[in-house]
Amino acid sequence: EYDMAAMGYADWGGGPVGEPGAHGAHGPSGVPVAELTETAAGPADVRETFTVQTASAGRFTVNGQTPGPLLEARVGDLVEVTLVNDDVEEGVTLHWHGVGVPNAADGVAGVTQDAVLPGQSHVYRFVADQAGSFWYHSHQLSHEQVRRGLLGPLVVHEERPDPAVVDQVALLHAYGDGPTLNGEPGVSELDVAPGQRVRLRVVNTDNGLATVWVTGAAFEVTAVDATDVNDPSPVEDRAVRVPAGGRVDLGLEVPAGGVRVDFGGTTSLVLGRDPTGGAATLPPTEVVDLLTYGRPTDLGLDPTDPDRVFDYRIGKRPGFLDGRPGMWWSINGHLFPDVAMFMVEEGDVVVVRIENGSDDAHPMHLHGHHAVVLSRDGVPATGSPWWVDSLEVGTGETFEIAFVADNPGLWMDHCHNLPHAAQGLVSHLMYA
Ligand code: C2O
Ligand code: CU
Repeated sequence: EYDMAAMGYADWGGGPVGEPGAHGAHGPSGVPVAELTETAAGPADVRETFTVQTASAGRFTVNGQTPGPLLEARVGDLVEVTLVNDDVEEGVTLHWHGVGVPNAADGVAGVTQDAVLPGQSHVYRFVADQAGSFWYHSHQLSHEQVRRGLLGPLVVHEERPDPAVVDQVALLHAYGDGPTLNGEPGVSELDVAPGQRVRLRVVNTDNGLATVWVTGAAFEVTAVDATDVNDPSPVEDRAVRVPAGGRVDLGLEVPAGGVRVDFGGTTSLVLGRDPTGGAATLPPTEVVDLLTYGRPTDLGLDPTDPDRVFDYRIGKRPGFLDGRPGMWWSINGHLFPDVAMFMVEEGDVVVVRIENGSDDAHPMHLHGHHAVVLSRDGVPATGSPWWVDSLEVGTGETFEIAFVADNPGLWMDHCHNLPHAAQGLVSHLMYA
């Protein structure tokens, strides 16, 4: 664990208010603060108050529970959440992981707002413009506050959800005393009849890759990071991997014998009956490879003639991070904060080459945008367009991704193994 207060940065270190901001200049946090966009004005369709508090066992709660309450909206809804900090001393924020919110609602302490101190509140307003599975979490001292439970699931429903499908969140989170599924350790049960169709929204809020497998039925990977997979094919005996911060939706029909879904061999969800009779199962050795899964269709952007091409080379080198000597993560050979921002203009098609030359995996998360995977280790993607906001980049792997710069502001692009971010694996995307 790192002492974030020792770093001169509000989130990736630093005090809650009035500290020098990310990159100098104006606004309370030292950065230009975006105005609420016009779409975020007017009466809200969904309106909630989330009060955060310190609880026992080193946990934080949202409205008295951890994980926090399920926030639900319908696509197109204007969502308004008032964050109230009861007593979390270091201050808190809320970040809407995966949602293309206006920059001012991104909830990054030291970048888009100051942390909300005890007794203070902050109003977030954004249009839920994409249906899918998301989550929210504090983005102040994230590596600590997320671990301690300042988080919850966010589901944006389609215009007309199929009423015959049971919609179930499976939020994975490990607390000090072990892994949980929707806050519960061990085996959870969902009482469904044979023939029932289920959409299981797996949300990985931990720092490591989650492995999920299904016993008793075939399943489809219907969505990844809130984007539908085009023409998913049913698979059996294959594990699904969910990067830190990532979401994977599974679709299945419960057979008479029941279904069991295992999460890393630590928590499980039984749908109907347990087809294993309660015996432990091992993860299948074969994995659903999203590079080839599903059927290709239009990307909606042309990556062959990009306006910008960036390298994002991850390494490790000795140096100083906020005055402390050590081995730190580097980006293109530089240590935080001496990392050039990725500068774009609105409308640009941007290609990023992420190369992991370090000895650890990095689940890379870009705020405010979704990017499509073009290739992995030089092998072009041939399946459904694989849109991500959280992408696992393994040791030695190279990914090429592309996105459209369509959401002006200053956005973080960091590792969601949050201690790594606190160790400098942070950069920013900035609109000129
Ligand atoms: Cu879910 Cu910058 O994080
Ligand atoms: Cu990392």
